[in-house]
Parts: sequence; C-alpha cells; structure tokens
Amino acid sequence: MSDRPNVLVTRPIMEVPLRTLESRCDVTVHENDFGIPRDELLKVVQGRDAIITMLTEKVDAELLGAAGPQLKIIANHAVGFDNITVTDCTAAGVVATNTPDVLTETTADTAFALLMTAARRVGEGERFLRSGQPWIWGPLMMLGQDIHHKTIGIAGFGRIGQAVARRAKGFGMQVIYADAIQLPAEVEAEAGARRVDMDTLLAESDFVSIHTNLTPETRHLFGAEAFKKMKPSAVLVNTSRGPVVDEDALADALAAGGLFAAGLDVFEKEPEVNPKLLALENVVVIPHLGSATVDTRNAMGALAVENVFAALDGTCPPTILNPEVLG
Ligand code: GLV
Ligand code: GLV
Repeated sequence: MSDRPNVLVTRPIMEVPLRTLESRCDVTVHENDFGIPRDELLKVVQGRDAIITMLTEKVDAELLGAAGPQLKIIANHAVGFDNITVTDCTAAGVVATNTPDVLTETTADTAFALLMTAARRVGEGERFLRSGQPWIWGPLMMLGQDIHHKTIGIAGFGRIGQAVARRAKGFGMQVIYADAIQLPAEVEAEAGARRVDMDTLLAESDFVSIHTNLTPETRHLFGAEAFKKMKPSAVLVNTSRGPVVDEDALADALAAGGLFAAGLDVFEKEPEVNPKLLALENVVVIPHLGSATVDTRNAMGALAVENVFAALDGTCPPTILNPEVLG
C-alpha cells in the first residue's frame, strides 16, 4: 500500500492538471462517458482521501458516509454547487470547494453567443441552408431582433452576470439587473447597470439573461407568470441551471408568440432536452458548454487540484465553500 493520498476523479479532466495531481497522489480517473451510476459511485468513493466531483454527481450524507472518515475534501469541478449539500460536508468534517472566477469570462461569452444566435436566427438559418431548400435574398427573409442599443436584463448580478454586462456595454445596450444584493455604486457605474425589481426587469428587457444559482427560491423563477410579463419580442438566455426555468411553460410561450426566442445551455432534466423545445425553430440549444474551452477547462482543473492539495496539507483551500469546517 502506498502512503500517497488516494484520490478519485469522477470524469476525465484535462491532462496538465491531472499530471499535477498525479505528482503527489495515487489517482483513479473514472472513465465513463455517461457518468457513474449512483450504486457504482457509492462503491468507488470508498477509502478516498479526496474526490474531484462533477456537477452530475450528487454529494450528500449518503455519499460522504460511503466514502469513509479519511475523506478530507470534495472538490467540485464547477462553479455551481447545487449538486452538493454543503451542510452535510461540514457535518462530516469534509471541506467542499468549487471553481469560481476562472470560468467567469468564458461563461459570459457563451451567454452572449446564445443571445446573438437566438436574436439573429443563426441556428435556424444554418439548418435551412443545410436542408438544401431553394432560396434567394429577400427583404422579408428570416428577420430577427436587433441587439445593439436594446435593453438587457440580467437576473442574478454575480461575477458572470457582471461579465455579461461588460459585453452588453460594448454593444451600446442599456443594462438593468435584478439581484437580492444592491451592488456598490462604483460597481454599478463600471458595469453601467441599474438595479430594478424583477417585474420591471421582465417588462423592460429586450433580452433576459439568467445568472442565478439554483436554490429552492430560484427553482422555476422563470415560469408562465414571468413570461406573461415579458415583451413578445424578447429573447431569454439561460446559462445557469436548467430548473431555474419551467421548460414546459417556456415552450408554450415561445410557440404562442409570447416570446421571440430562447437560447439554452442548461436543461431541467439534463441530459434530457424537452422535446417541446426541440420542436421549435426559435430555440437555440447547446449541451451545457458554458465553460467548455481549452484554457478554462485547464484553469478549472488546476484550481480543483490546488484545492485538493491545500485540504490534504491541512491548509485553507483557495475557493472553500464551508470555511467553518476548519474551525
Ligand atoms: C457549470 O455549469 C459550472 O457550474 O461550472
Ligand atoms: C456564479 O456563481 C458566478 O460566478 O456568477
């Protein structure tokens, strides 16, 4: 038996951070393109000193119990941590960490890509051309919505929401935001953003981009009632977590002309995509690619490994979610 720490990584991660991890630890990478079934996960966590988890794994008292008392850290390879019951980690004396900051700009890029694709019907145009149908330039062909100088409403004005605001400013857009927290005047000035209540955001925005965490309060925050308050010309973008949007209500609103279009990176029952949404031309869907670039996945892996090393050394990991566990 080696006396090096024993680490499980639940899905393959980038080569460079993996090599760093292997320089100090015995590492098992779980190779399974469709994730680990729960019963198998509960077996493979046994005896680990550290586990690097993905947003697809539920971390709760059951999993922590299955892992055993030598477990020191759950290092989530994601900024979102709705898959982790942090209080269970704390109760078990296990550090929990996520990977904020390193993916902020990349995820904001993804939100903007979806916004532009949905507004200017890029996916629909692409499908049309590839279908080989006859066409010629026409003054009424596939008209979309302008982006520049319109109003964008950002629901959840954290790091990613603010990064979207910086992009919107470059397009000459008006930026409003809804958030439980009033940001300091200098942050608002830098972002060129004004705080409004959610109803005002829904009524005034030409684009609504969602950047909240998934919590009991934000589940289905965007449902039939919210869509009724939005402009029929509005575009909804979601790069946060699927369950923040009621997909059936969204499909109904889009089909009835209550909204112009939607751009979605995340889904209510991932990896399933609601067939009602897939049947609509005015929906752009991508498979949870928010942070999916080479540089950012290297940075997320590196941060997760840094968190693991700190926990193994008994020092405070840079992006700890439950500092109270350290006493
Ligand atoms: C991805 O969705 C993340 O939370 O990092
Ligand atoms: C979300 O957690 C963010 O970084 O905005």
